[in-house]
Amino acid sequence: MKVLVIGGQSQLAQSLKARLIVDDGRLFAPAYQDNAPTYAINDNAIEFVFTNKAQLDITHAYNVQAAINDIKPHIIINCAALTDVEQAEQIDKQSDVFAVNADGVQTLSQQCKRNDILLIYLSTDYVFDGNTSRPYLSDDPCQPLNQYGLSKRQGELNAINSGCRYVVIRTSWLFSEFGQNFVKSMLRLGGFYHANALAKPLNIVNDQRGNPTYAGHLADALIAVVQKNARQSVPSAVYHFSDTVVSPAFLQQQQQQQQHKADLQTQSSSECEYMDVSWFEFAQSIFQFAEIERNSFIPPALTAVSTIDYVKAVGQQAKRPKYSSLNCDSFYETFGVVATDWRVGLKKVIKACAAEAKTG
Ligand SMILES: NC(=O)c1ccc[n+]([C@@H]2O[C@H](COP(=O)([O-])OP(=O)(O)OC[C@H]3O[C@@H](n4cnc5c(N)ncnc54)[C@H](OP(=O)(O)O)[C@@H]3O)[C@@H](O)[C@H]2O)c1
Repeated sequence: MKVLVIGGQSQLAQSLKARLIVDDGRLFAPAYQDNAPTYAINDNAIEFVFTNKAQLDITHAYNVQAAINDIKPHIIINCAALTDVEQAEQIDKQSDVFAVNADGVQTLSQQCKRNDILLIYLSTDYVFDGNTSRPYLSDDPCQPLNQYGLSKRQGELNAINSGCRYVVIRTSWLFSEFGQNFVKSMLRLGGFYHANALAKPLNIVNDQRGNPTYAGHLADALIAVVQKNARQSVPSAVYHFSDTVVSPAFLQQQQQQQQHKADLQTQSSSECEYMDVSWFEFAQSIFQFAEIERNSFIPPALTAVSTIDYVKAVGQQAKRPKYSSLNCDSFYETFGVVATDWRVGLKKVIKACAAEAKTG
């Protein structure tokens, strides 16, 4: 079985690549034989091929067709997207954003239908408006607040309505060792990469809540989807996958701090604790772990601010949902993957960034 991963330079694709087995310059995931994982590179092996934007631009239908004819994938994972939420608001950028996030998916879906390929499309919590107090189910109504969310929702609809076999996976607040993300921005702004730097205080939004998700955990989930599809055809549906689970000690600490979390807990299923955090709380954890990783590091002072004040101060254009926690039960029920504590991933990323700071 062959899997084509488009958008090979994305943080998600790089996280996926890092989890595969290299054999003679080719990349494989373990397949399943007799209900047990096998690492043998044989006819059952699952090979992954990655293309970057220069090799395959999804806005060019001819490119997509040529790549499919050449690689002959059974599954396509589309990680290609324009993900800069602020840039997507600029009038002169909007046609590009929709060309990639919506029309590009239309092209891929049509080719997938024609060639009987399963399309795995990554989408976002930003398809929701945030006006709820319990984690979003995958069939809750979508009401994007910004152009990025609108373009991704259109991409979802293009996949769903195309008649191809699809798995749409919505995720949230991705971070990793690769590319650009909130964790790396915080470390950079906080002076983590420069010895003895004293960083300026940072104002961080404290009234938008969601689920930070380590891209490595999402990559494991993607491998599980591919492995399941190798055994039996997976049902076309929209799923949610985020790092929603937290350890009991963390849960207890947070419950003491904020009563409304206890309310959410009573609404969650037995499988997952749908523990959301604000960007401010996420930043606090980042700097706590950074200080543990390098005890000479002096974290910047953090101030919790409201979205209204932050928008006034920095002139942000894109509206964001106040609350976008995702209910991941259906992913667990279908693919057997349990969500993980995002702080497990956070520790790994900070360790990698510390090593990078030393060598850089
Ligand atoms: N980041 C998040 O917090 C987040 C949250 C929820 C959902 N998601 C979704 O998860 C997926 C992966 O996100 P990510 O953060 O890993 O993405 P990312 O790091 O921003 O990377 C996106 C990649 O898409 C490539 N790309 C852009 N236009 C393309 C085109 N026309 N053809 C082919 N490739 C193109 C870019 O290539 P260049 O770099 O060469 O331009 C880039 O490597 C996306 O679908 C995103 O919408 C992300």
